[in-house]
Amino acid sequence: MDWNVFLNPYKQAVEELKIKLKGVREQCLIENKHSPIEFVTGRVKPIASIIDKTKRKNLSLEDIETEIQDIAGIRVMCQFVDDIYAVIHLLEKRKDLKIVEERDYITHKKPSGYRSFHVVVSYPVQIGETEKNLLVEIQIRTLAMNFWATIEHSLNYKYSGAIPKKIENRLQRAAEAAFRLDEEMSLIKGEIQEAQKIFEQKEQRKLT
Ligand code: GTP
Ligand code: MG
Repeated sequence: MDWNVFLNPYKQAVEELKIKLKGVREQCLIENKHSPIEFVTGRVKPIASIIDKTKRKNLSLEDIETEIQDIAGIRVMCQFVDDIYAVIHLLEKRKDLKIVEERDYITHKKPSGYRSFHVVVSYPVQIGETEKNLLVEIQIRTLAMNFWATIEHSLNYKYSGAIPKKIENRLQRAAEAAFRLDEEMSLIKGEIQEAQKIFEQKEQRKLT
């Protein structure tokens, strides 16, 4: 298996989707509207992780294209929980991708305390003279959910997936605190957005 040949289309899909979703934010800022997208990141799954997952899920190499949905991964960070649903709506309306699966870990949080909305899309990339439809996993979450997930991820790494019970409990409490922060912020959303608009206008004037 030539990994460079296999992974290159995924790399292209990640780069294209990052640009497109950042473009959504830019357009909102130009129109002086609240952007549901705060920032976007993306990555191609490292080869070692793909091989790990293939073994863990007992897959053959021919199956990975269809069975591993997160070889290409995009993360969209939002200020408010409402923004997450605005981003999903926006993805549903786009003509350059097709949603194939939605996983709502916001109303159904994971036992760890993890919250995010996952969307798996089918995305066409042009490779040479052919078009190839690839699966891309888009994780949409608030800044607070991202803060929690990032920290939980490092602890999982440190303890090789076996986080001590005491820390695990603390993390669950932290997840609830993060969610309460999101709820508190959404209560003053109007106020915050008004302030940000004034601030943005001022910044734009500096540039022109
Ligand atoms: P995988 O086999 O891990 O892909 O599980 P799955 O197919 O059920 O996919 P799922 O929808 O659970 O999404 C997996 C991805 O979501 C992971 O690669 C992480 O990026 C993220 N994720 C899921 N659960 C957790 C969690 O408890 N903590 C953190 N930090 N991230 C999580
Ligand atoms: Mg997955």
